Amino acid sequence: MITPRVFSVLLAGLAAAACTDEPASPPATDTPAAASPQADGPPYRPAATTRELMESLIAHAAEEYWGSVRIVIDEQGVTEYFPETDEDWEEVWAAGLSIAESGNLLMMPWHSRGEEWNRLSGGLVEAGLAAARAALERDPDKVLDAGERVYNACVACHDRYLPAATP
Ligand code: HEC
Repeated sequence: MITPRVFSVLLAGLAAAACTDEPASPPATDTPAAASPQADGPPYRPAATTRELMESLIAHAAEEYWGSVRIVIDEQGVTEYFPETDEDWEEVWAAGLSIAESGNLLMMPWHSRGEEWNRLSGGLVEAGLAAARAALERDPDKVLDAGERVYNACVACHDRYLPAATP
């Protein structure tokens, strides 16, 4: 459900970039002031706006995870899909860990919008860790449960911080 929208947004962004003669500049961040390098800290360099982080790393990892175990009902009847090879399971595990670390990224000063935001981002870390564990256990039922937990972590934050409720 998310994918077509993500791609249309990405394509719109690419089209806009192609139309400008200006040299490539780093992406604007939501809070540019917070993005300036700190003298005594690691040389973080914000690479994506919150929206870009959502539409790249986070949405892609979530789609990968949610698509890994699925039940399709059509004329052919009920077909269940689940990871089979070692490589399949490794992809699912990697998607889970990507989701978990994304939660930490969301707490970075240039993404964070405060304490409540950080709490909700922590929820995504926990859900992502459960998702990665389910993949390590190679348990399709646990992957389905963990996928739902991830989904709830997304929605909890969107309910609070997305200006218009997503359909
Ligand atoms: C801690 C808060 C938070 C969490 C957790 C979170 N999001 Fe978001 N998400 C946002 C905010 C805020 C925006 C709007 C960003 C903007 O437009 O500047 C957004 C926007 C998006 C968008 C852009 C499209 C739209 O509807 O505006 C997608 C896609 C998205 N999120 C997917 C996800 C997925 C998938 C998850 C869970 C795996 C997730 N998000 C978890 C806060 C969050």
